Amino acid sequence: MIDVSLNVKRHRVDVEPDTTLLWVIRESIGLPGTKYGCGMALCGACTVHLDGAAVRSCVTPVSAARGKRVTTIEGLAQGGKLHPVQDAWIEQDVPQCGYCQSGQVMSAVALLSRQKDPTDADIDAAMSGNICRCGTYQRIRAAIKLAADRMRKGA
Ligand code: FES
Repeated sequence: MIDVSLNVKRHRVDVEPDTTLLWVIRESIGLPGTKYGCGMALCGACTVHLDGAAVRSCVTPVSAARGKRVTTIEGLAQGGKLHPVQDAWIEQDVPQCGYCQSGQVMSAVALLSRQKDPTDADIDAAMSGNICRCGTYQRIRAAIKLAADRMRKGA
């Protein structure tokens, strides 16, 4: 049995330590927002946070999450209020098919937690591991800038 702290709740899961965190999140705990894309840490669809840092859950063993806080797209909203990045995503109408988008949002939130005013180059560097086959990159960049602006103003 392995204890996982996910979105501020503790879960005991009966899996092998090398089971991927993605599998545990989706299959053992039952949260489907984190997506399986390539399974090789190349596309970013499976991005979640470990202690606030973006990681690829498809190649992260659940044992790496011991003693850490795991956050998924379902855990970003606080007290019924969406995260500013989620609000900006809606306002900029970012998603197309949507498959990559939870991973995109998780990477964007991690970026803004360490950089309050990212340049285009900072955004491109931080988001380069998140692939969008629908090509929503311009709207992603606009949403990140909108969220950054509001977060700096405390809105
Ligand atoms: Fe379709 Fe990104 S919105 S893959």
